[in-house]
Amino acid sequence: MKLASTLLGGATLALAGAAFAQSIEDQTNPNLANPPLWDDLADLEVIRVGDTFYYTASTMAYSPGAPVLKSYDLANWEYIGHSVPELDFGPEYYLNTSSRGYVQGIWASSMRYRESDSHFYWIGCIVSTQNSYVYKAASPEGPWERWSEFETCYYDAGLLFDDNDDVYVAYGAYNISVAQLSFDVTEELSTTLVLESPDVYLEGSRFYNINGSYLIAVTRPADAEFILKADNPYGPYDMKTLVDAIAAPVDGAGAPHQGGLVDTQDGQWYYTAFIDNYPGGRTPVIAPVTWDEDGFPVIVADGDGGWAGSYAMPVITDKLALSPLGTDSFTGSSLGPEWEWNHNPDNSAWSLGSGGGRRRQVGLTLSTSSVTTDLFQARNTLTHRIRGPKSRGTFVVDVSSMADGDRAGMAWFRDRSAYVGVHKSGSTSRVVMVNGITMEQSDWSTADEGAVAEEGPTLSPWSTGSTVHLRVETDIRPAGSLIASFWYSLDGESYAQIGPDFEEDTDWHFFMGPRYSVFNFATVETGGSVLVKSFTQEAIE
Ligand SMILES: *[C@@H]1O[C@H](CO)[C@@H](O)[C@H](O)[C@H]1NC(C)=O
Ligand SMILES: *[C@@H]1O[C@H](CO)[C@@H](O)[C@H](O)[C@H]1NC(C)=O
Ligand SMILES: *[C@@H]1O[C@H](CO)[C@@H](O)[C@H](O)[C@H]1NC(C)=O
Repeated sequence: MKLASTLLGGATLALAGAAFAQSIEDQTNPNLANPPLWDDLADLEVIRVGDTFYYTASTMAYSPGAPVLKSYDLANWEYIGHSVPELDFGPEYYLNTSSRGYVQGIWASSMRYRESDSHFYWIGCIVSTQNSYVYKAASPEGPWERWSEFETCYYDAGLLFDDNDDVYVAYGAYNISVAQLSFDVTEELSTTLVLESPDVYLEGSRFYNINGSYLIAVTRPADAEFILKADNPYGPYDMKTLVDAIAAPVDGAGAPHQGGLVDTQDGQWYYTAFIDNYPGGRTPVIAPVTWDEDGFPVIVADGDGGWAGSYAMPVITDKLALSPLGTDSFTGSSLGPEWEWNHNPDNSAWSLGSGGGRRRQVGLTLSTSSVTTDLFQARNTLTHRIRGPKSRGTFVVDVSSMADGDRAGMAWFRDRSAYVGVHKSGSTSRVVMVNGITMEQSDWSTADEGAVAEEGPTLSPWSTGSTVHLRVETDIRPAGSLIASFWYSLDGESYAQIGPDFEEDTDWHFFMGPRYSVFNFATVETGGSVLVKSFTQEAIE
């Protein structure tokens, strides 16, 4: 209880000035548990600035892209912003043409802090343009702005501001190269092949100068990490294995790989990696490292040589980072930093504040923006990562302003999707569960728009009211039940399951994990809207 009240104090402090409101539950990690945060946050780079750690991750076609999280102890993480405000890399990122950006967009990228100008920099190659982009911010919360563009792909970039402030980026697949960028990070000065790797596929570079030694961490997907070490940025580099098929700290998950190194203020080092943890996606894991006599890092393993399920807390601090479960009532003037749209939103079709004026309810208004029968083509689907190992998400939605033909609801959103929602036909609004919405794996086009698997009650403003509570419960452990179930309630108290259990799969090809999402699209014409009154995510047993 004492802890809970301390936490709430921290919450008030941390969220003062933030434009969103959430009720935070007590969920402080007492030690470095693995995963520290069971969210889909792949291709991480973790850095430290003073007493604060920052985390960047890839987001593919979700917008805004490249979330930023912070932590004071490496164990508790809080979402604070995004480095890429809009995926303005081509028409395929807007869902208003037939070409779509699924599985493209933001891949492995890099975020670093530059002491000399006190700014954060993000760099990434966008595969669909083969160009690289730099974004820059004075504060990691933002605003982030596009700083420069390079007509070359720094594939899986790892940025380094050297001790003398020279700027480098390590990058590549198979072959690893090091480019030197101009001091103002707008031009390439040179690029040098530093590792020719004909046999082993390598990628995921992270670049460091640690006590005068240049280290590049590279991965062999999806199970090994190697460290290259040289006494100057261009090599020659010696190479040692950091991890190779080490046992994961989650039953049934893939081996920890593709990460980087970070130190605490008192000089302890950690390797931050991720595990293929499908159906949930790719989840961070952290372990301490020591250094061998040649200056290479060595993982601190558990008694069996595997990655431990927990380690001693890296930093003891009373500064709190909040990884919020709980309720978001959309009462602020902007969306909280956990939220990402599927592709760039149509900003004219959503708003926060008073919904429609009729009842002066506050929330997120989603007006229909697309006329389509295809969820994957609909604009303005708002998504939230699914917390593992088991959680429940609930959207409360007022559907009184839906128009004929509109479809609104809560999806388990991935390349195989399903939803519980409301279909409006004429003047009748009916609760439905739709299953079997799938993409082709070859090109991520829509294979099947799905079909109603079960119909629920019709909603009437006079008898049932027009607020529906839509819920998905899921177990995303790779060795778990692999089932999500769909529920609705008309009073917010008694819930009924609708439709069959949804069978999750552990396939990785879509890369992004599934998300809780809320959507509203038209099949006849635009003009209708729904008011999303809240979203709650709870951990469940
Ligand atoms: C798609 O939407 C974007 C941004 O809303 C806009 O700039 C672009 O012109 C639109 N494209 C089409 C084909 O309507
Ligand atoms: C790696 O570099 C060598 C030497 O430049 C080149 O011949 C080879 O094609 C490169 N391999 C890849 C996969 O780019
Ligand atoms: C770097 O140098 C400092 C000072 O000599 C030393 O304490 C520290 O252990 C070194 N770190 C590594 C990773 O070698």
